Amino acid sequence: MYKIPAKTIFIGKNIVFVPECHSTNSLALEMSQNKDLDEGTLIITDHQKQGRGQPGNLWLSAQGMNLTFSIIFKPVFMAIQDQFYLNMSISLGVKGFLENKLKRPVYIKWPNDLLVDDLKLCGILTENQIQGTTLLQSIVGIGLNVNQQDYTIQRAASMRMLLGHEFDLQELLEELCISLEQWYQLLRLGEITEIKAAYRASLYGLDKPRIFSDKSDHFEGTIKGVDRYGRLAMATSMGMRYFSNRELRYEY
Ligand code: BTN
Repeated sequence: MYKIPAKTIFIGKNIVFVPECHSTNSLALEMSQNKDLDEGTLIITDHQKQGRGQPGNLWLSAQGMNLTFSIIFKPVFMAIQDQFYLNMSISLGVKGFLENKLKRPVYIKWPNDLLVDDLKLCGILTENQIQGTTLLQSIVGIGLNVNQQDYTIQRAASMRMLLGHEFDLQELLEELCISLEQWYQLLRLGEITEIKAAYRASLYGLDKPRIFSDKSDHFEGTIKGVDRYGRLAMATSMGMRYFSNRELRYEY
C-alpha cells in the first residue's frame, strides 16, 4: 500500500496500488484506454511479474524490495518532434533525487539509465501515444533498485548496496515524485535550454573516448551530446555520427 504524496501538486494525487501485476506500464495503458485518467496518476505494484525494459528486455525486480511504478503524463503542450525533452526531464528528475539521497554523482547513460560508478540503479521506459502532431499521453515507467541485495544481471546495484542500509519505499516514492514534478514543470514552462544543458552535462561518458559497437563493427567514439531528436551524437574517425536507441552498444 502507498499513500498519496503530500508535497506534490499533481503527481501521485491519484494513486493506484496493485499488490501484483504483469507490468505497471501495460496496466497504465489498459486503464487509460478504459477511462480518462488525470495527469499524474501513478500506478504502483510490489510485485511486477513481467516488467518490461527497453524493447526486447525484461525488467526483473524482487517482490517488495524496489520501486516499480508508472506515471501518466499528458504533455499536450509539446510537439511530437520534441518528445525526447520529456525523457530528458524525467531522467533529470530521477538523477536529482538520487544525488540528493546518495550524495555522489549520478550519470545518465543515454537514453535514460541512471548509473552510479558504472552500476545501473534505475531504468525508465517511456511509451508515448501520439495523435496527429500532438503528444496525447506519455506513460513513464520507472524501476528503481532500492533494497534488493543481489542481481543476476551484470552491472546492476541498489541504493542499499551502495549505502549499506535499508530505505523506506513510501518515503523514497514521495521524494522522487517531488523531483520529477520539478523537472516536468520546467518542461511545461518551456525551459528547454536549461533541460538540454543539464542533460548533456549528466551524460555518462561525455567527452571520453571509448569503444562502442553497432550492428556491423566495433569502433572508438567520443560522446558529444544528443541532437534535437534525442539521437546520441558521437565524434568518430569517420566524423560525427548520430545513433538512435538500440543502434548502439557500449563495450566495456
Ligand atoms: C530499462 O532500463 O530497460 C527500462 C526499465 C523500466 C522498468 C519499469 S518498472 C515499472 C514500469 N513497468 C514496466 O513494465 N517497466 C517499467
